Amino acid sequence: MPRPPEPTPTADQRLTDLFDRSISYLRLSLTDQCNLRCCYCTPKTLTEKLDSLELLTYEELLRVVGLAVAMGIRKVRLTGGEPLVRRNVTSFIERLAAIDGLEDIRLTTNGVLLAEHAEALYAAGIRKLNISLDTLRRERYHEITGADCFDRVWAGIEKATAMGFAPIKLNVVAMKGVNDDEFLDFGRLSLSTPYQIRFIEFMPMGKGTTWEKGRYIAATAIRERLAPLGSLEPVASGRMEGPARVFRFAGATGSIGFISPISHHFCDRCNRLRLTSEGKLRSCLLTDRETDLKAIIRAGGNDEAIRKALIATILDKPKGHTLAGDGSGNCHGQMSRIGG
Ligand code: 5AD
Ligand code: SF4
Repeated sequence: MPRPPEPTPTADQRLTDLFDRSISYLRLSLTDQCNLRCCYCTPKTLTEKLDSLELLTYEELLRVVGLAVAMGIRKVRLTGGEPLVRRNVTSFIERLAAIDGLEDIRLTTNGVLLAEHAEALYAAGIRKLNISLDTLRRERYHEITGADCFDRVWAGIEKATAMGFAPIKLNVVAMKGVNDDEFLDFGRLSLSTPYQIRFIEFMPMGKGTTWEKGRYIAATAIRERLAPLGSLEPVASGRMEGPARVFRFAGATGSIGFISPISHHFCDRCNRLRLTSEGKLRSCLLTDRETDLKAIIRAGGNDEAIRKALIATILDKPKGHTLAGDGSGNCHGQMSRIGG
């Protein structure tokens, strides 16, 4: 039987996958370079010469986001690598913010360059920050990230807080034998500061990282370790909020989030699409299937070709991932390229 012709996507076609998940959130990895080398990640360093032609240009990114927003994307997160190391990133964000219909732009950063970029980011319209901070100890920060930058990052966090960025979420990758003796310190930090402390289960990602079975701690175990600080009350989260389960200690200013991709899959609620730094569309962080959008764009693809690629990627979105706490189902994608 001849196959029926594929329908032509319309400019305002909604992005819904085969499992009735409505896709409204796009994560853009702006670069795979980073000024840190966290032990659980294998980024390209700034000294390694990266061919910038490999990256989607800002013009290309704005074109894709414009089309995606017309099809229902409402929220964009800028990630990396470290997004703030890409040149002229704040003027790009200003142009991004001008896209009609884009309600929410957020940034994930390691915070090293935050203090110097905070004003420009604020002026460009960013308010919501996720900052990676796996330890509150200077020496240990150096060991985990390869750079003695704790004080700089903390200064960036304090400046952003004073300027009114909110919410500020601190991402803590939970690693047994590395930072699990600090869970209570992080818990206490949520009592006195407005930050949301987000404990993330350590995922086996890519080659050359320090992931090993014995380092993984499930969210329930992290939660048990926080028990001395009192009971955690659930906090209602909004439509645009991610997969974290959020709680608060009685009387606390801040909150505690748990992100448990391994022990508690949230795939059934996943509304995400990703664009990697070199222009590959990816429907799942933990499944290595990609659509080469850059090739389509650079072959002169028109808007319809881009829309078709967006839809095809979403229709290919897996129901769930297979990654487990023992490392089975390991995904080979490199975090810094895909954007965490
Ligand atoms: N497991 C869990 N979280 C990770 N991140 C990076 N690599 C891993 C991993 N293997 C987190 C970092 C950063 C975010 C972008 O992703 O903490 O905050
Ligand atoms: Fe850089 Fe983030 Fe990777 Fe750390 S986890 S090396 S901050 S990209």
